[in-house]
Parts: sequence; structure tokens; C-alpha cells
Amino acid sequence: PHIVAIIPAAGVGSRMKADIPKQYLTIGNQTILEHTLSVLDKVQYINEIVLVVASHDSYLDDIKENFCRLTKPIKTVVGGQERVDSVLAGLNALPKDAWALVHDAARPCVLVKDIEQLIETCLSQNMGGILASRVKDTMKRSIKGSNQITETVSRDNLWHALTPQLFPTHQLVASIELSQKHNATVTDEASAIEFAGGQVLMCESSATNLKITTPDDLQLATLILNAKQM
Ligand code: C5P
Repeated sequence: PHIVAIIPAAGVGSRMKADIPKQYLTIGNQTILEHTLSVLDKVQYINEIVLVVASHDSYLDDIKENFCRLTKPIKTVVGGQERVDSVLAGLNALPKDAWALVHDAARPCVLVKDIEQLIETCLSQNMGGILASRVKDTMKRSIKGSNQITETVSRDNLWHALTPQLFPTHQLVASIELSQKHNATVTDEASAIEFAGGQVLMCESSATNLKITTPDDLQLATLILNAKQM
């Protein structure tokens, strides 16, 4: 099967409190986005990469010349208001019979072997799936705007949904369109598939596959990527 990686990278990353979108912050001598691209480029099953960016993205111009170092073909499309709009824009650039592997630009620490495991599992079972990790900490709930505990939530069978998330393109497009028609809250690709009644597998990810959201995450990702290069 033809597998295309879609990288939503059209967000502004306001929680990072930086002057530039977080995917263009540098770790070592590369931007976060370039780290992410170089991991996906090493995944043997991926045929091409679709990068979803903001319109008039001057930060992209600064790194575009480095794309020639990638071995896989890469094209860019313009994203939308919400992450889901950006993913749809990417999906529209894909052949209908392709599998779409959606991976956040903000997750540069994902391991090649975990992505390959996800792809192998999904293709062998002919079902979409995501990388996920089991919840290890005790979970608490508070009421909105308060730090006071109202209850302890059982962590049994609870998982963190990560990316990549892999689905047949036609199934993902139809599911996202259905969820939008019904104004359903969809925060990842799997939740759109679930809304449409589809089944989704989970593949356990290495714990290092964090999403860079805050300045703390950036420090942690720097440690992880430096350790990888040693
Ligand atoms: O903001 P958050 O961390 O959830 O974003 C996850 C990913 O989705 C980031 O890589 C971000 O650039 C991307 N995104 C996007 N289009 C948006 C919002 C977020 O491509 N409108």
C-alpha cells in the first residue's frame, strides 16, 4: 500500500509563549520540524510526506532549502483554523487509496521503530491505529478553575493518545466530515473514526514520544534528542 505522512505544522503554539511558532524553535542545529521530518524520512514504509503549513509562512522559507536532504518526496499545502482543518487540507492532497499517517510536527522524539511497528500492526490487521501509552500516574479530577481534588479517576485501561495515527484516507476523510456535520468534539484522528463507529487499534509507544507544548517540554525534548545522537 501507498503510505503518505501528513504533518500538521500550521499551528501558532501559543502555550510556548515564544515569538515564533514552536515547530520552528531550534534544538541543536535543527528546528523541531526538521527533527520530525528526519525521523519520518527514515521510516521504510512511508512513500511521501505532505507538510501542512500556515499561509505566508516565512519561517518555512528559511528551512525549505534543507528539504533536498530528505530521501522521500515532500510537498507543502496550506492548513486551516483548527488542527482538524489542517489535517483535512493534507488529506485532500492524497490519492484516495493511500493510507494517511498523521504525525504532529511538535513530536520530534518519536522513534522510527515505533512508527514501523504501528504500520506493520495496522496493515496486517487491515485496521487503523495510533501510538499510545498507558497511564501510569494516579489520575485526579478538579472542577474548572480550581486546584482542589473532587475525585480520583481510575487509571485502569486508560491510555494517552499520541501520534502518529494511521488510517485509510477515504475512511478518515468521511469520518472527519461526519463529525464536523454533527459538531462533534474531535481532538485527534482516532476520535473522528470512533465518532463514525469505526474501530481503532492502539500500539504501545516508547515513553519519550512527548508533544512539545510548554517551555518545560522543550527542555525535556532537548535532553532526549541529545541522548539519541550520542
Ligand atoms: O497545538 P497543538 O500542540 O495541539 O498542535 C498539534 C500540531 O497540530 C502542531 O504540530 C501544530 O502545528 C498543528 N496545528 C495545525 N493547524 C492548526 C493548529 C495546530 O497544523 N490550526
